[in-house]
Amino acid sequence: MAASPSESTDLRLDADTIAAVDVSDMLADVVGLPEHLRDALWKVESANMQPWDSPGGLVVAGMGGSAVGGALARAMLGDHASRPVLASRAYGLPAWTTPDTTVLCASYSGDTEETLACYEAAGALGARRVAVCSGGKLATLARADGVPVIPVAGGFQPRAAVAYMTVAALEVAALCGAGPRMGAEIDVAADHLEHLVVEWGADGADDCEAKALARALYDSVPVIAGSGLTTPIAYRWKTQFNENAKIPAFMNELPELCHNEVVGWQEAPALGRFAAVFLDDSDTHPRVKERFALTRELIGEQATGTFVVESRGHTAVERVLSLVLLGDLVSLYVAVLRGTDPTPVDVLVSLKERLAASA
Ligand code: PA5
Repeated sequence: MAASPSESTDLRLDADTIAAVDVSDMLADVVGLPEHLRDALWKVESANMQPWDSPGGLVVAGMGGSAVGGALARAMLGDHASRPVLASRAYGLPAWTTPDTTVLCASYSGDTEETLACYEAAGALGARRVAVCSGGKLATLARADGVPVIPVAGGFQPRAAVAYMTVAALEVAALCGAGPRMGAEIDVAADHLEHLVVEWGADGADDCEAKALARALYDSVPVIAGSGLTTPIAYRWKTQFNENAKIPAFMNELPELCHNEVVGWQEAPALGRFAAVFLDDSDTHPRVKERFALTRELIGEQATGTFVVESRGHTAVERVLSLVLLGDLVSLYVAVLRGTDPTPVDVLVSLKERLAASA
């Protein structure tokens, strides 16, 4: 039987204990990240697209687990993006979208109403469209309109298809002239992640970084901070805590949070247990690194814990994905420690059903 949160820190996070709570085996999808990356490259290839020129850049239109790939791809491209690349999470496209912009409509289910609205808006504008989905209305519309579809395998939770969505965004950015081809980096990153899966996965040491961090966070509200390349990853961590562990979690970025949020920690203990996690990277601005240290010092008394987590790897693709994998595992282990099945997202499903009923 699953342990209650108060007993959980004694719980070993081994394969059997995890499987007893993670009954739908979200773990398999999380540690499948390296394989998904390689498969995603094939999936893009299978859409048989020839390069084209979009001087207006790329908008990745999607929501939730499907939008995150666009934001992560943007972080990976960094200074190598030669045109605007933006993840857009809304019913409409950014005002600056023109017929010269490529719009990648990303929806795992293919049935997300915001993404479908963007698909229609891009069509009305005359913008070049590409779809990435596992099926649904988006696939049907795209096929009818002659719009290329990058297929994604079925059977995942949308948030577990993060590798597919990220690779699709990177490859479409390259195809439309907004960034360089990253296929080789993606392959190398997949090998790198396999090592991290061994280190942090179910068979990894019980005091490995992922399990130790989960134990430190399982009974607090995580407040995740990123900067630059790690900002969209902070958002991924927040959403994975929400959906896998079913707990509130928040994110912000530096240097901005040093101008407001840092003050809010003063009264935090009166409201609850909050822990801070800073996502660091070799490329973080040196003054931001100083801010990480100072902020930790200033909120240390009010937080139940403060932690700095470093990305691992050489290329931006490796570093971003190392932190994505770590956050996915930490959130899953927090779910296990709390006795919560990581997979179902009943509230989200019910919200979509109620909206569909009123459409
Ligand atoms: O994680 C989730 O399930 C959600 O955030 C979904 O990704 C979001 O609701 C959008 O659905 P879809 O990814 O099918 O477009």
